[in-house]
Amino acid sequence: MKLKGVILDLFNTEILKKYCLKNNQTLYIRQELLMTVNIKKYDSEIMVKTERRKRTVEDRDVWHHVFDLPTEKIIQKIINRRVIDTLDYAISSGKESGVYRATSKSGYYAVKIYRITDSSFRNLPYYIFAEERFLQVKKKWHQLVFAWALREYKNLTIMHESSVPVPRPVMVLKNILIEEFLGEDGVAYPILQKYNGIIDVKLWNDIINSVKTIYYKANMVHGDLSEYNIIIGKNNMHYIIDVSQAVKKEHPAAKELLLRDLKTIGKFFIKKGVKVNIEETVKIFEKDGVNP
Ligand SMILES: Nc1ncnc2c1ncn2[C@@H]1O[C@H](COP(=O)(O)OP(=O)(O)OP(=O)(O)O)[C@@H](O)[C@H]1O
Ligand SMILES: [Mg+2]
Repeated sequence: MKLKGVILDLFNTEILKKYCLKNNQTLYIRQELLMTVNIKKYDSEIMVKTERRKRTVEDRDVWHHVFDLPTEKIIQKIINRRVIDTLDYAISSGKESGVYRATSKSGYYAVKIYRITDSSFRNLPYYIFAEERFLQVKKKWHQLVFAWALREYKNLTIMHESSVPVPRPVMVLKNILIEEFLGEDGVAYPILQKYNGIIDVKLWNDIINSVKTIYYKANMVHGDLSEYNIIIGKNNMHYIIDVSQAVKKEHPAAKELLLRDLKTIGKFFIKKGVKVNIEETVKIFEKDGVNP
């Protein structure tokens, strides 16, 4: 079998990436096929010999934590479109999404993959899975997840265009969102909650300025602002992330969410010993009808 690229499983990525870089080959990632990959150079093309092997129980556990087949196909599409070359490793793995570092010709990207296989679906017996009624539910569920990813992409775009310090959105395809990688030398910057550097009034004021920019320029409210959704980079520069749930200023819950955002961040700074006045900060927004 002659292939232009190399098909491999995710866990060999680092070794094979090096190999492909050395041999100027495109790297394809495929996890659904479990195989032993034998690579040989032949007439300037890479020969890949694959042997299917039986799945073990441990494999099954691992697969559950990686990607489902539809997601894998989307990753493949993105790689084929040359947006990214490889998915490197998980920066974070949550219940609803995982964030991965990816490498492209022009540097690194952060790839947020929303899970489309709901864990409650997974526990259903196989005969329900095959039922038409269930397939409809599954389809609707997938579409909801796609809409959620698109929503984050759109919110990021509005905020980015309004000069809010958010990662630059690159593309969205179904449940996969690609954005600017926030980090240095390939290492992701920490979130505020894990940040060991200076946490002071200046940082508080900077963050409040971003909340103002989101409110007055982007006409939105983040809605889930906390020490978990702020990344701190070089020179104490902050970035706001995770904006899928952000709402328009006119949204009936906007004011309430804005107050909650300010209080959550305020409490974090107070816990860190920084003297901040949450009530005073809330007053800034009062002329727009936001009451403490
Ligand atoms: N652009 C980025 N560059 C570097 N790291 C990032 C980027 N975006 C997100 N991260 C990392 O990934 C983590 C999760 O991202 P995010 O907050 O957007 O997802 P989430 O929906 O909260 O995920 P979870 O399901 O874990 O709650 C962040 O805490 C941060 O560490
Ligand atoms: Mg988050």
